[in-house]
Amino acid sequence: MSQAQAQQATRENSIGAAALPVVVVGAGLAGLTVALHLAGQGQQVTVLAKRTLGEGATAWAQGGIVGVLGSDDSVESHVRDTQDAGAGLVDEHTARFIATNSAEAVGWLVAQGVPFSPDPAGPLGLHLTREGGHAVRRIAHAADATGRAIHEALLAQAKANANVTLLEKWIAVDLITNRHVAPDDPEATPHCHGVYALNIVSQKVEALPASAVVLATGGVGKVYRYTTNPDTATGDGIAMAWRAGCRAANMEFIQFHPTCLYHPQERSFLITEALRGEGGLLKLPNGQNCAPWGTRFMPEHDERAELAPRDIVARAIDFEMKKHGVDHVWLDATHLGETFLREHFPTVFARCLDLGIDISKQPIPVVPAAHYTCGGVVTDLQGRTDLGGLYAVGEATYTGLHGANRLASNSLLECVVIGKTCADAILETPAPEPTQVPAWDESLVENADEQVVISHNWDELRLLMWNYVGIVRTTKRLERALHRIKLLKAEIDDYYRNFKVNRDLLELRNLVVCAELIVRSALMRHESRGLHFSRDFPQTLPVSFPTVLTRKARSRKSKRA
Ligand code: FAD
Ligand code: SIN
Repeated sequence: MSQAQAQQATRENSIGAAALPVVVVGAGLAGLTVALHLAGQGQQVTVLAKRTLGEGATAWAQGGIVGVLGSDDSVESHVRDTQDAGAGLVDEHTARFIATNSAEAVGWLVAQGVPFSPDPAGPLGLHLTREGGHAVRRIAHAADATGRAIHEALLAQAKANANVTLLEKWIAVDLITNRHVAPDDPEATPHCHGVYALNIVSQKVEALPASAVVLATGGVGKVYRYTTNPDTATGDGIAMAWRAGCRAANMEFIQFHPTCLYHPQERSFLITEALRGEGGLLKLPNGQNCAPWGTRFMPEHDERAELAPRDIVARAIDFEMKKHGVDHVWLDATHLGETFLREHFPTVFARCLDLGIDISKQPIPVVPAAHYTCGGVVTDLQGRTDLGGLYAVGEATYTGLHGANRLASNSLLECVVIGKTCADAILETPAPEPTQVPAWDESLVENADEQVVISHNWDELRLLMWNYVGIVRTTKRLERALHRIKLLKAEIDDYYRNFKVNRDLLELRNLVVCAELIVRSALMRHESRGLHFSRDFPQTLPVSFPTVLTRKARSRKSKRA
């Protein structure tokens, strides 16, 4: 009997043939990786996606995924680059574990049918590109639409697997915990028994009991007015885990990508860092005190110039925009030539051309925008959270890999490596006896009457975060933000308790929780490090630690959190 068969036998013996499914909340790379590994061992899995299955950050990823594959590369070199980018807060054990497993992760994706860009002379027959902060070429990619290629391949595998049930337009509302199943038993071991989820088509909230729940809900970029993220990125998993009593770490480290297209019709289109990796140059725009576009500014900010880590490049752009009073800077790739650009960056080329920008003849107007959530739900290297039966994987988590600033293309890698170990952990863990879970209680709520409350608070929160909790922070602005966030949170919670839920309300409720976590973490950090830059604490302390927030115990009686 193989190890995997033995694990499955343990699990079946412990929970019986009619075992509950594992519920995976999220159908991005993290969720699909967990689901496919579980399903491959005969485990029934239900995967929820709150919009269509295709929507999420994974499908939008451009640059690629790290693979320590080249003969000029090594695990140590990747660990060093991850640590340099992470500005002293990377957990070395985590970074080494993930780097060590990167070749296997890329190999697994190839085996799932991901059509990476080939290079007959390259390792595994793959072309490797380069991005900021990497000492060597180590990014496997599918031209500039890597995420789409990965997501389509994994989704096709999941659709073809009889053990996987894919439910789109189902949004998880909250985790089912002891507070719901054993409110009068304070001694019961804390455990997650499933999720309450809103079927967006029928508008009914249903209880989905589960032998284990995996949160793979992505990041929280939508908490900022300007972001590269899709609409799904509202921090739902982080907020759900937090409400269920799990710790959240390093939430102050929100990564701003230096180069989001600046265009009135295109608020969230990323211009991949690989364009700078291949030689794209950042330049000042025309205007007072500026030469015609052609003046590079990055060499004045860092010796690595355009290939410095993202926090440095984003801050430099922010500085130059404020200094020159301009709305954007230019990313000039004209010298790379039309043939090269069309071949290596077909998505960026086509999207810009649609908007009237021929990137082989003109520079691209770019601005920084919120891009990646480096912190999240605290997990171990197998996705275990603080709550029994609850796991988390992907951008929703904090494993220690990213420290104070994520190295480009490490995120997709983390999803694949931890997705696999998380599935292993679930299979190894005997599931508890199925518990009777109560139905969702709507007896005391009415139909929402004032949708404007939601839309107004949504806009206010995102603008507030952009203006007060952005690339450069001050204590006064953070305190102002926290004050406003608490007021908004009270209003939103009140609305949630009194009205039937819908997707906008649920997302706003999660966004405001994450906003509070970001600001509280930022206020706790009395230094500038990586993505957190404070004018009041500009120095980097000689010794520093992750910011870990722990939720205070709450009453077990209330059924709606
Ligand atoms: P996602 O892919 O975002 O998936 C989240 C899933 O959760 C979705 O299916 C969503 O519907 C679902 N969901 C969320 N909340 C709920 C809920 N309450 N109920 C039910 N379902 C829910 N990283 C790299 O390593 N390389 C790159 O080249 C790269 N490029 C990027 C380019 C862009 C434009 C962006 C935005 C990000 C990029 N990143 C890149 C980051 C990377 O894409 C993400 O970090 C990664 O894809 C996250 O995967 P995930 O599975 O954790 O979340
Ligand atoms: C990009 O292509 O620039 C995004 C890469 C990443 O976020 O890792």
